[in-house]
Amino acid sequence: MRLRSRATHIGLAVTLTLSGLALSATGASAQSGYQDPHASIPARVSDLLKRMTLEEKVGQMTQPAVVTMQGDECQWSGGALNETCLKHTFVDLKAGSVLSGGGETPPQNTPKDWADMVNAVQKYALDHSRLHIPIVYGVDAVHGHNNVLGATKFPHQVGIGATWDSQLSEAMGESTSRAVKATGPQWDFAPVEDISRDTRWGRYYETYSEDPYLAGSLGAANVQGLQKTGQVAATVKHFIGYSAPFAGHDRTESHLDPRYIQDTFLPSYKAAVDAGALTLMANSGSVNGIPAHASHYLLTDVLRRQWGFKGVVVSDWNDVQSLQTAYHLSDTYAGAAAIAVNAGVDMAMLPPGSVDDYVSGLIADVKSGKVSKSRIDEAVSRILTLKFKLGLFEHPYVDASQANGIALGADKDLAVRAATESQTLLKNDGNALPLSTGLGKVVVTGPNADSIPNQDGGWTIGWQGIPDGVNDPGVTIYQGIKNLIGDHAKLVADSGDAVGQTKSADAAIVVVGEKPGAEGTSDNETPELAADQQKLVDDLQATGKPVIVVVVAGRPLALGSAADAKQLLMSWLPGSEGGTAVANVLFGKANPSGRLPVSWPKVAGDEPMFYQQLPGTNSGPSSSYDPLFAFGTGLSYTSYAVNGVTASGGSTVKVSVKVANTGSRDGDMVVPVFAQQPVSRIIAPPNRLVAYTRVSLRAGQSTTVSLSFPISRLAVTQGDINGSSTRSVIPGLYKIVAGDKSADLTVH
Ligand code: GLC
Repeated sequence: MRLRSRATHIGLAVTLTLSGLALSATGASAQSGYQDPHASIPARVSDLLKRMTLEEKVGQMTQPAVVTMQGDECQWSGGALNETCLKHTFVDLKAGSVLSGGGETPPQNTPKDWADMVNAVQKYALDHSRLHIPIVYGVDAVHGHNNVLGATKFPHQVGIGATWDSQLSEAMGESTSRAVKATGPQWDFAPVEDISRDTRWGRYYETYSEDPYLAGSLGAANVQGLQKTGQVAATVKHFIGYSAPFAGHDRTESHLDPRYIQDTFLPSYKAAVDAGALTLMANSGSVNGIPAHASHYLLTDVLRRQWGFKGVVVSDWNDVQSLQTAYHLSDTYAGAAAIAVNAGVDMAMLPPGSVDDYVSGLIADVKSGKVSKSRIDEAVSRILTLKFKLGLFEHPYVDASQANGIALGADKDLAVRAATESQTLLKNDGNALPLSTGLGKVVVTGPNADSIPNQDGGWTIGWQGIPDGVNDPGVTIYQGIKNLIGDHAKLVADSGDAVGQTKSADAAIVVVGEKPGAEGTSDNETPELAADQQKLVDDLQATGKPVIVVVVAGRPLALGSAADAKQLLMSWLPGSEGGTAVANVLFGKANPSGRLPVSWPKVAGDEPMFYQQLPGTNSGPSSSYDPLFAFGTGLSYTSYAVNGVTASGGSTVKVSVKVANTGSRDGDMVVPVFAQQPVSRIIAPPNRLVAYTRVSLRAGQSTTVSLSFPISRLAVTQGDINGSSTRSVIPGLYKIVAGDKSADLTVH
């Protein structure tokens, strides 16, 4: 790790080496009080809090981005750690946390460089903290440790949604946690628990599903995986309503009525909170005219008083100052800080140029009484509790020499499994798939056929995706196919040439979709397949040869004429090992099992779209739920049957489903279970997912799978239009449905 002044650099490296990793943050063996590792965490927090000054406490609530201490200017350039800026951050401002925002990496961006950088920041912070309080370092590892060159990139969340596999989501969390911890950070700003709502939104691919239960169960599993070792904290984000901007554009206003908040939006976040997430990030946007960062209702009434969340609430990027500069809730930054902290924000995530005034403003707020000392102590207690839980006082450093071995290319098999399970086969007319590996010539074409950046999507190496000129390893779809059929695979980049060559080929595989992006820059007002890509598909189809359309995108794009494809595979953003997964599915090494976690619209304008659209008096064409492919759609190379359903129980409903593999190939069957409510005083959606499972079935095998769900999953917010009453389960007749079978369930 290079610091600005060489002498300092040598000194630092030697100090770290000599001190090794043995000494605790206090620089000595454990003592009494907060330094006693055998004391309880509450006792350690209480003792440390008593010793802290107001400035030290406010410093703990401050999370500057690492770019504020890198390079010559400490602004946006990145680069070597700058000792002058380190001094300002940790001596003057006494910051207790640091983050790497998207693309904020050490100069070489190797795992070891990360570990050296985080260790160096930690060392400087500890050496200059009067009470030797370690920092906690946060990073966005949202599909593996996606910032780091050479780290395995998992599929983005929407593809994991298509797996319906919570065990997989947990395993991914464990893998990501190992890579993150090995490189230094101890805090992962993941998972996203916003539910998919609108394909115009640039962050659609970061969500798991449009269904609250599917999104919540996958996110909860991911939290458990991330936090399994106790060395990394997960983050439930972005609380709440971020994914439902009224106009589809990121961070524009959302309007959610109380019943929609309670019954549709809160459950996925609550599932992750109930899974034990140690932290939560607020939504940058506004809900019903109130910025989420200013909402005492959300951040205190719901989160703390109703749910009992004890963890740390961190702001999103610059969203404390946004209360002044974007939302105009205050004409001063200090005023904005007071609003956010009093609403329930414990720690502020701060970009360059916003750190000093946050610290001075909040200190002034306390001195003026705008923010009480007890509120400061409450926030700092949560932050210190987090640090004690993560073991940072005893083990503030990582062994940088191990970082490359742990983080580079780790768990590729898991990434192949995740990408394979996420492949969602939507059409296979005439069962032309799987293709034979004995084919003569297969043309592989399309803009996403040979592109790791496009497979990995946003939040990869850079915020907006892999920067031009940067090579991050992986297996492209073309390479995956070539690995199976060798030189019979012909990569043809030019569309015209591809059409020409297809005429003499046995098949063509055309990989279309979209380019990487993140947040607002990835918003799309017409989320449809580009016209030239539709034309390429049409022209290939016109050859009369088998044409397999593969979509690599973070959202279900309206396909236009490409919807007529006879073979259609949604690959989502399959990550660095996606090429292996797609090839294995296309050539039958794997039997696809993915099911849509979202609805696929026929046209771009039919958004927001979700399967729980309520019935009404509408009759216009396509005014009801009218997707191209419905939520839960997914084909296999075998066939499955549901031969019976039973349901019984009171507070816990037990469901058994008889299933069978009636085809000729082994496969994994996803079994969703829905509840229908023939009559309800609160309009009931046609279906509500209440449980799901996956079961491996050999060809011809049948079995009975058992599922259960708490009856509370059927609760709805009572009351009139204003949803002013509590949530409860409406008594009466329900139908519990799996496949084409159902069972009656009467709730008393
Ligand atoms: C971003 C995102 C958030 C991320 C944070 C830090 O703006 O909204 O998801 O965790 O900033 O990079």
